[in-house]
Amino acid sequence: MNTANQSIKPVTTKINDKGNIEIGGCDLTELANKYDTPLYVFDEETIRSICKSYKDAFKSYPKMRMMFASKAFMTKAICKIMQQEGFGLDLCSGGEIYTAKSAGFDMSKTLFNGNNKSYDELILAVESSIGTISVDNFFELSLLNNIAQSYNKKVRILLRITPGIECHTHEYIQTGHLDSKFGFDLTQLDEAIELIKDEYTNLDFVGLHAHIGSQIFEKKVYFDEVDVIFNEIKRIKDKYNIILSEINLGGGLGIKYTEKDLPVSVYDIAETIIKSIEEHAEKYKIESPYVFIEPGRSIVGTSGVTLYTAGSSKQVPNGRKYQAVDGGMSDNVRPSMYQAEYTVEIANKPQQKSDTLVTIAGKHCESGDILAKDIMLPEIDEGDIICFYDTGAYGYSMSSNYNRVLKPAAVLVNNGKSDIIINRQTYEQLCENDTIPDRLN
Ligand code: LLP
Repeated sequence: MNTANQSIKPVTTKINDKGNIEIGGCDLTELANKYDTPLYVFDEETIRSICKSYKDAFKSYPKMRMMFASKAFMTKAICKIMQQEGFGLDLCSGGEIYTAKSAGFDMSKTLFNGNNKSYDELILAVESSIGTISVDNFFELSLLNNIAQSYNKKVRILLRITPGIECHTHEYIQTGHLDSKFGFDLTQLDEAIELIKDEYTNLDFVGLHAHIGSQIFEKKVYFDEVDVIFNEIKRIKDKYNIILSEINLGGGLGIKYTEKDLPVSVYDIAETIIKSIEEHAEKYKIESPYVFIEPGRSIVGTSGVTLYTAGSSKQVPNGRKYQAVDGGMSDNVRPSMYQAEYTVEIANKPQQKSDTLVTIAGKHCESGDILAKDIMLPEIDEGDIICFYDTGAYGYSMSSNYNRVLKPAAVLVNNGKSDIIINRQTYEQLCENDTIPDRLN
């Protein structure tokens, strides 16, 4: 069965009677007029449909737990949707913890991870009664134990390990290979366990955590990951008589940005994971553990599109045709950072023939600020609304104020209704943290 991550467009995408693209029952051109551009549009039905696919695909394994990796896109409204869908949250900064708390999220269903959690962030995590903390390194083990001691608490922890699995994705988004900044090398695990056993008595060691990378299309890497983790669980049981009850396999399932991308379905991934867990539990005579996964991109990626208004254009004599839009690398850094490619359409004339070779340029003072290179589109007129698909993950969450460009608004659409979930930043907000020392006045 196909799942939403395998299609380029949100599940509700249509061409309406006016010949315009419509998502969630809302005409994109009208949304652009109403809310201005650049604008992120999120389709609630696509988010909920992929959440339902995850729940359905894993239902034969009752000890399965889903956490949304908030780094992909976090706002209070998304926290609410995740809570309603029964997902937990994977959080990786004080800001993400604060957002979840402010949205009233059940903090017992959260995991805090990251390779350099600060003292203040760990305090916030412990004070917020975060469900579990994935400890990344020796420095953090000792710091967290001290904090837990001072609060007279026992904190549930996982140890983040580097499983030594290379997956075929962009080098910057691979995380599970051996020479990685994340997690304990397997050869360091025993030292960490001995410290927990003998000294760090305020830590309750319940399991192992790994994450192998992002935008993954292969199933086999998950099988390999389960294999590495189970070998460790078995070894730890035999050597220390510690029974670990949780494993967390991280996120990573890919989405379809362009026709070239062939991500597998959530059902396929679920089948691989469940099968390998059951086989390993049987082989090692270990009680089946609670299994956590933390998808980010596959939950929100396909649901989001970005709308821009076409502005200036330029034909380089004997060269490229550039069409500039009113956003760029400040609202989507992925093309310049990872050479990411997107599918693009013109929201007010999707059915016109794509007979023009064009490069969509952002408005930033940087030659590398190109959003889509050499793509075929209909002839673009000034004022046309250009729609980039699949910007829901790592778009807003990696946005910046480069060139003091304001962060766009985001709306959530469903059944013909659109609601703002992030207001457009204002010039006043842009300057609100700037101060001028007296001596400069
Ligand atoms: N869990 C952990 C520990 C992670 O580090 C990540 C992503 C996830 C889960 C979620 O992975 P996902 O399901 O979204 O692939 N900015 C890059 C992606 C970086 C991913 C970092 N970690 C991009 O735009 O492609």
